[in-house]
This record gives sequence, C-alpha cells and structure tokens, in this order.
Amino acid sequence: MIIAIDGPAASGKGTLGKRLAHHYGFRHLDTGVIYRAVAWALMAAGEDLHNEALAVAAALELDPEKFGNPVLKTQKVGDGASVVSAFPRVREVLVNFQRQFAADPPGAVLDGRDIGTVICPDADVKIFVVADPRVRAHRRTLEARARGEEADEEAVLADIIKRDERDQNRAIAPLRAAADAHTLDNSNLDIEAGVRAAIAIVEAVRARR
Ligand code: DC
Repeated sequence: MIIAIDGPAASGKGTLGKRLAHHYGFRHLDTGVIYRAVAWALMAAGEDLHNEALAVAAALELDPEKFGNPVLKTQKVGDGASVVSAFPRVREVLVNFQRQFAADPPGAVLDGRDIGTVICPDADVKIFVVADPRVRAHRRTLEARARGEEADEEAVLADIIKRDERDQNRAIAPLRAAADAHTLDNSNLDIEAGVRAAIAIVEAVRARR
C-alpha cells in the first residue's frame, strides 16, 4: 500500500507521514529532505543555487546516509530547496529514487509536494494537508525556537507565503491537490487529532475496497 501526503511548507505533513507510517508498519520518506540535501550540497560548497548543472550533479550524487544532518531542517536550506526543486532536470533525476522507495514492500508513506500528482499517481490513498498560513508560521516559529534558533514570526510568515507562491506556481510539478486527494485541514487540530483524522481517511478508503 502507498500513502501519498502532499501539502505546503510547515503544514505538518512530515510529522503526519511519520506517524502514519509508524501506525501501519510502513516505511516513510520525507521527500523534502531530498531537495534540501541537493540545496545544501551547493550551499556548503559556496555555489550559486541557481546553477542548474551543479544542482543536477548534486542530485545524481545524492547520499541518503546524509539525510539526518540537522542543518537540512533549517529555514535557509528549506528556501534553497524551493529554488533547486524548480529545475526540471533535478526533479527528473530524483523521480526514480522516490518511486523505488514507494514500491518496496511492505508499504510506504511519502510526503512532499507532488507525490499524489507526479511521483505516485496510483497511490492507494492521497491526503492533501492544508493549514492557515498564520497557524503554520506560529508552529514553525515555536519549532525553530525549540531547536535554539532565533525566529521572528512575521518573517517566518513572509517566508511561508513566498515559498507557497513559488511551489504553487512553478512550471513543473507544482504544489496542488490531486483530483482524488482527500483534503485534511489541520489549522485547528493538534498533532494527535491530525493523526486520527488521517487514519480515518485511510480506513475509509480501505473499507470502500
Ligand atoms: O517540505 P519541505 O519544506 O521540506 O520542502 C522544501 C522544499 O522542497 C519545498 O519548498 C519545495 C521542495 N519540494 C518539492 O519540490 N517536492 C517535494 N516532493 C518536496 C519538497
């Protein structure tokens, strides 16, 4: 079984993906980490993020062992990921890795921006997570502070709005809900309630089969 979870920045889709995978005993891939790793490869080398050839080279040399590097979680690397992920050839190189991950047994949960639309259009369950931008900014600010980073909520909100705009309007694989996706608005749900709502969606789809 493949569960696709898509949604904008800081929507909580990553936590939801991890928790759903745990609940069903499936593997989990946070696909944002892949684009973040590509961006960080360029940033760490002091290279220009707008250099498509270098971004493609970094995507070809992707090392999943490095996905745990805490720097990948930072806002500046997230911004960089939004830039490199708009390159069609970067996305093309990364498609196979994601599809292979999804196909391996016993089942997988992938979260990102284009899982239900491009990577796994035949996913068994598709969930599109949304939340009010102000709520997302507030949550992201608290998370950053908990990690010991400084964060100004208004600046985080501006970043979220800019990132949504870039992710939704890029020419290739833009962020949007698949026609057969179930929308989950977690603006007013805490993590536990969000997880319960997602499990209810999966169970409803299973029951209909
Ligand atoms: O979900 P995230 O914040 O880790 O994603 C960082 C950036 O990576 C996001 O702004 C757009 C890009 N991304 C993408 O284009 N496709 C995905 N499946 C996941 C992330």
